[in-house]
Amino acid sequence: MASPLDGKVAVVTGTSRGVGLGIAHELLRAGATVIGCSRRPLDAMPGVADNPEWLARSSQRVCDQGDYRAIDHFVEQVVADYGRIDILVNNAGGTVPAPNVESIPGLVSQIQGAPASDDEYERTVLFHAFAIQMNLISPMWFAVRVFRQMREQDGVGSIVNISSGAGHPAGSPTLVSYGAAKSGLNHLTRSLAEEWGPKVRVNCLALGPTMTDNFKSFVLPKDDPNGEKYFHAVPMHRAGEPQEVGRAVVFLCGGTADFINGTTIEIDGGMMPGVLYEAGLKTITDLL
Ligand SMILES: NC(=O)c1ccc[n+]([C@@H]2O[C@H](COP(=O)([O-])OP(=O)(O)OC[C@H]3O[C@@H](n4cnc5c(N)ncnc54)[C@H](OP(=O)(O)O)[C@@H]3O)[C@@H](O)[C@H]2O)c1
Repeated sequence: MASPLDGKVAVVTGTSRGVGLGIAHELLRAGATVIGCSRRPLDAMPGVADNPEWLARSSQRVCDQGDYRAIDHFVEQVVADYGRIDILVNNAGGTVPAPNVESIPGLVSQIQGAPASDDEYERTVLFHAFAIQMNLISPMWFAVRVFRQMREQDGVGSIVNISSGAGHPAGSPTLVSYGAAKSGLNHLTRSLAEEWGPKVRVNCLALGPTMTDNFKSFVLPKDDPNGEKYFHAVPMHRAGEPQEVGRAVVFLCGGTADFINGTTIEIDGGMMPGVLYEAGLKTITDLL
């Protein structure tokens, strides 16, 4: 039986772990060829070694999305090797909660991966710039570069941006620059869909808490490691799983939802915006 994404070529950013890996695996399960990337070199995409078919249809490469020339080179190589790109999932990104927007502790900056500085003001402004770069500017760079390929090939391309409930208009104290970037990503989704239709559809998935190793380490409270109290505020009383995000990507790209365009779909178990951030802050404060 044919799979919905047979013959499609998908690029997913941030596939060394976490949500990106769940997305890559579900795209592979649906028949796509998947090229993933991250900053760290890996021999293969994690989790595919035992499945010869997935191994043959996947490739894990190095690309730092903070460098637009690296994005250009990566996309050029993917097209040279596979001939086209049908799907782009802009997944790489993220942050950690920060107790005060006006002074970012060194440890928070280090966990996020922002440039280090002994000067508190410099460290703080660079932390915010880094969050906006990784969660808004780099996904835009990737989308622009991949669109320049998609417009030259036959068929309709599909871009999916991975956003967050932190981008909700309700605001997100402790995730201020990240929330602003994700809010911008939701808006960018709409604008690009309007500019690039009908050649390329652009949609967005805004995630609530999703179980990854980083989420367990930096957001779930140490005295509630399974989130039994924490997830009480989520109507489904649990976090999402990376595979559930992947299945939503397959739904958006698999040919049955082609009139969904320019929209942001929440995958958050029905949580109320803003209710969850205090717990993440507690974890970070405990670590400081
Ligand atoms: N987990 C959640 O609860 C949650 C909630 C809402 C939204 N989200 C969103 O979901 C997405 C994935 O989050 P996650 O929780 O899976 O994060 P994660 O576990 O930290 O994984 C991030 C992935 O992106 C890669 N990456 C980081 N910086 C990169 C760069 N400059 N260039 C290329 N790749 C890079 C990482 O690999 P390397 O470090 O090797 O580069 C890793 O593969 C993010 O956009 C995040 O905002 C997650």
